[in-house]
Amino acid sequence: MRPKFKDESFRRAMRWFYQFLAKYKWKIVMGLVLVTITSILAIVNPRITGYIVDNIIGDGRDIGERFDLLPKALLLMIVVSLSQSLIRLIFLWNFETCSQDMLYDMRDGVYRSLLQKDFAFYNRNRTGDLMSRQTGDMMAIRHFVAFVIYNIYENALLFVIALVMIFSTDYRIGLAMITVLPITALMTYLQSKTIKPRFMHIRDRFSSLNAFVQENISGNRVVRAFAKEDYEIEKFDKENGMYRDAELDAAKVWTLYVPIFEVLASLLVVILMVVGGIMCIHGSMTLGNMVMINSYLWMLNNPLRMFGWLINDYQRFTTSVMKIYATVSEKPDIQNPRYPKSAKRIKGEVEFRDVSYKVEGEPILDHVSFHVQPGQTIGILGATGSGKTTIMNLICRFFDVTDGEVLIDGADVRDLQLHTLRDGIGLAMQDVFLFSDTIEGNIAYGDPECTFEQVEWAAKMADADGFIREMPDGYDTVVGERGIGLSGGQKQRISLARAILKKPAIVILDDTTSAVDMETESQIQHDLKCLENETVFIIAQRISSLKDADMILVVENGRITQQGTHEELVQQEGYYSTVFAHQYGDKAAG
Ligand SMILES: Nc1ncnc2c1ncn2[C@@H]1O[C@H](COP(=O)(O)OP(=O)(O)O)[C@@H](O)[C@H]1O
Ligand SMILES: [Mg+2]
Repeated sequence: MRPKFKDESFRRAMRWFYQFLAKYKWKIVMGLVLVTITSILAIVNPRITGYIVDNIIGDGRDIGERFDLLPKALLLMIVVSLSQSLIRLIFLWNFETCSQDMLYDMRDGVYRSLLQKDFAFYNRNRTGDLMSRQTGDMMAIRHFVAFVIYNIYENALLFVIALVMIFSTDYRIGLAMITVLPITALMTYLQSKTIKPRFMHIRDRFSSLNAFVQENISGNRVVRAFAKEDYEIEKFDKENGMYRDAELDAAKVWTLYVPIFEVLASLLVVILMVVGGIMCIHGSMTLGNMVMINSYLWMLNNPLRMFGWLINDYQRFTTSVMKIYATVSEKPDIQNPRYPKSAKRIKGEVEFRDVSYKVEGEPILDHVSFHVQPGQTIGILGATGSGKTTIMNLICRFFDVTDGEVLIDGADVRDLQLHTLRDGIGLAMQDVFLFSDTIEGNIAYGDPECTFEQVEWAAKMADADGFIREMPDGYDTVVGERGIGLSGGQKQRISLARAILKKPAIVILDDTTSAVDMETESQIQHDLKCLENETVFIIAQRISSLKDADMILVVENGRITQQGTHEELVQQEGYYSTVFAHQYGDKAAG
């Protein structure tokens, strides 16, 4: 464990954790003061027991007078126990609230940081893993604050107190006792050492099981469609079995150590009986002291047994902090500029100046240049994988160019505030995502303050108003994950309405009408003409979707190979006229 402390990333992670804990520093100190008080009170009752044995019961003769003291002594014992319980109640509640409040802040911080991550981050990380940062790892941290901190302190304190009390009562019996302690300590060490890798294994298996379940639930339709239920069940059984075996593997260790610790605990009692008994017989120790020491034994034993578990909990806590911190501290490539160009609202001029975009040396876009004036409509045509979506991703600055510049209103997108940039863009993505919310909520996502009339306007523009009104609850129909299913074309139209609701300066429709029928599409094309001041990008596979555009770009293998209006392009030899011939067939020939 020692080299870990020297580790810079470990230190940084701990500092990050401490910044959340710092707010509750005084509450924790107060809690530890209360723990100190109960621990010190733990001395009292054994002493009273010893006193009762020696001074009240004594040799059992002439008990009459001394007997009156008994109720007082017992009352004191009860008062002490009750106070201990009361104080424990207070500090347990204290640590519990500290941990929950701290976790609230932490979850919030982690969530915020997840929202700031760029696309590349989400491409790299598995959903299941990111989920477990917010669940399992948070639990481990909470457990540390709520339980481990005070337990380490309390057990250490009780242990020292018990030693001091036993030695101050009789050092010889103290010496006899501590012969057993190294064995207990050794066992604790061995237990925690053997069980640690097994616990790590459990966690890996658990997270794997979780990821499996998550993927299967998300991909449930595919499983059904391919009738692969049996295959998936078999895979699941394997995961399930591995998780069970991991748990049993760990259980083998701890079940072995439980009886060992029991034996060691009884050994302390045996030593006390033998050594203490002999001393009592010889009169070098009173019976009361022996009884008193007997009631301190748990204070010696318990901490040693607990320590193995606490070390484990501590290690789980540090791993979790490091894991969360690694996620949080990952700096997104896409960040706000240090000195942003001040622009309240973008106007919609878009220029690509010799833009290249490479991934691991592979060119995705290759020297792409074009210039669009505000209010123009641009069509982009190209085969799947040619780089159309990438062009849009660069305009929104989801990625940064490798070479060249993307300019909005003459300013490099890297010099604009991300919020200004993206707030000025309405994007209907290729793979539509709807939140589990009402249709109205989904359309108004970009501007929750907007009026219902605006939502209705956007829906009408996207030719969605009609089918929305036919739904059981109209605009209040809940869609998305738990909502009712919509057809691909209906989802696309809702996503289109969402993109144009705010009348952003730039509207990007990435294959947004691919799943709607031709008639609906031509209606949408007609409606979109109302967007006179907006720059509109229409990415499509169908010529009909973009033939009215002011300019059409043809993308092939990451390059713009043709550029012009529909009339110009059909005249040229090339991809456009080929596609046109395919799609319009005889009409084109005629
Ligand atoms: N982040 C990325 N990492 C690796 N390859 C990518 C990435 N983004 C896009 N690509 C690749 O770039 C090519 C163009 O993708 P894309 O712009 O989505 O095409 P289109 O939208 O025209 O179908 C594809 O071959 C795709 O696999
Ligand atoms: Mg695409």
